[in-house]
Formats: sequence, structure tokens, C-alpha cells
Amino acid sequence: MKKVSFTKMQDGTAEDYAYLDQLEDQYKLDLPQRLLTALAALEETLSGYKISRLEHVLQAATRAHRAGESDEWVAAALLHDIGDELATYSHSEMAAAVLRPFVSDEVYWVIKHHGLFQMYYYAHHCGGDRNARDQFKDHRYYDSAVKFCHEYDQNCFDPEYDSEPLAFFKPLLQRVFAVPKALDAEQRARYGEN
Ligand SMILES: [Fe+2]
Ligand SMILES: [Fe+2]
Repeated sequence: MKKVSFTKMQDGTAEDYAYLDQLEDQYKLDLPQRLLTALAALEETLSGYKISRLEHVLQAATRAHRAGESDEWVAAALLHDIGDELATYSHSEMAAAVLRPFVSDEVYWVIKHHGLFQMYYYAHHCGGDRNARDQFKDHRYYDSAVKFCHEYDQNCFDPEYDSEPLAFFKPLLQRVFAVPKALDAEQRARYGEN
């Protein structure tokens, strides 16, 4: 494969960067397939539950789909624990970062905070504060985060539930991750996007 001319970015030419842009455009198109690969890897993460992490997120996404939620919410349910493997101490933020360019502020915020909101269901059994989410009581997306955790997360550990397989969600991922929403100036600054 053709390579760029530089060893330091400061020495790159317009031709180099046009070539890299072209390759990056193709790489972006392959994002849904990479997400499916990462989701499949959830089969091997956190143990001890009655079902695997992959089955958990399939159950979450299937429940959201069957409840008539939008593509963005179904994608969020499917991807909400995608950070378990690499962002073990900050998995909510990782999933939110993956989703952010493609979903509404509300979906982004809910996924970013779902770990904290989820504590309501178990933290009192292990010395934590189950009401830690109360710090966001007045936030405009508080109710949405409560609903997400109640209907599409804490209840999605049932081995008897008839979830759709991962392949079922491929067209949905291709729709949601086809084109990023226009990044605003603040997002561009934060993520170094142009
Ligand atoms: Fe989670
Ligand atoms: Fe979860």
C-alpha cells in the first residue's frame, strides 16, 4: 500500500493529507462492523451473572426495540456496556464517547451517566450510596436516565428472555453510525475533529 512521505507530521504535504483523508473516509464507513466485532467480544467479559455481557446488551437492545424506542435508543442499549473490557473503571464514559457524534445530547448524557444511575439497584448491598444519582435530580435528563436503567439495564439479566441475535441489529447500527451529526465547535475542540 502507498505510504505518506513524512516521518513527522509537520513535514506532511497536501497530497499526503488528501491521501490519508481518503483512507480515513473508508475506515469511518467500516465503523458499524468494528462495533459488531467489539460487541461479540463481550461474550468473554464480566462473569458470575446468569448471562454473558453480550447476552445482557442483546436483551437490553431487544427490550428497547420491542418497546418501540428509536434507533438511537436501541443502539445505545446495545452499546451501553461496550466499555467493560477496556474502560473497566469508566465504562459509561467510553460507551458515551463512541455514541456521541451519532446521537442526541439526551442519549449521550444518559449513557455517560448510566453506571451511576444503575448504582440505585445494588450500591446499598456493598457499602455504596444507592442515591448518588440524586445529585442530578434537577437535570433535564434525570428521568430519562432513570427510565433507561430501569427498563433497559437492571432488568436485563434474565436467561429466559428471548433476545434477538447480534446480526439482527446490524442494519440498525449501519443506519445510526452512517453519518455523524454535525459536530459543534465545542465538540470539535474537545475531540480534535475537523
Ligand atoms: Fe453499564
Ligand atoms: Fe448494563
